[in-house]
Amino acid sequence: MNEVLRAIKERRSIRSFKTDPVEPEKIEAILEAARWAPSGKNTQPWRLVVVESREKREQLGRLVTQMDMIRTAPVTIAVLLDTQAGYDRTKDVQAIGACAQNILLAAHSLGLGACWIGRVRDEQVERVLGAREHEELMVLIPVGYPKESPPPRDRKPLAELVRRI
Ligand SMILES: Cc1cc2nc3c(=O)[nH]c(=O)nc-3n(C[C@H](O)[C@H](O)[C@H](O)COP(=O)(O)O)c2cc1C
Repeated sequence: MNEVLRAIKERRSIRSFKTDPVEPEKIEAILEAARWAPSGKNTQPWRLVVVESREKREQLGRLVTQMDMIRTAPVTIAVLLDTQAGYDRTKDVQAIGACAQNILLAAHSLGLGACWIGRVRDEQVERVLGAREHEELMVLIPVGYPKESPPPRDRKPLAELVRRI
């Protein structure tokens, strides 16, 4: 199996983090992976807010259900949809998903853990993030060195998922 396929298969959602800082070059590499995600008409409608300060992490942690993850992870990346940049709601949201998956896979490939926290619009959280009027919060991704090594969650067999025609 090549390393991309291995990373796809071995990545796990990590919900418990060491407090060790993450090297800035690793964060840059993750952001670079996010930037290279595909998007409809190459509109690149994602905007990324990197939350690193203790103060902002605490503020976010108070608003988000899974507060411990956000508080303990040294970095949280918020993925926002710039509705002015997009052109079709469904495709824009699909592009955000591709961007988020790139972030998860890049983090995993660098020995880091991350977790997709799906969010519906939340004005309070958006205010903490400094989101602009036309930006909508889509995903929060805490990133840090993993403090757990969870077993794989089940996946449905291909026979249940795939039809050949
Ligand atoms: C759209 C979406 C929303 C998710 N929301 C959450 C969430 O709010 N909290 C959480 O702990 N995990 C969340 N997850 C992670 C899933 O629970 C996880 O990917 C799934 O259980 C499979 O586990 P694995 O990622 O370790 O393979 C979300 C994943 C996706 C794709």
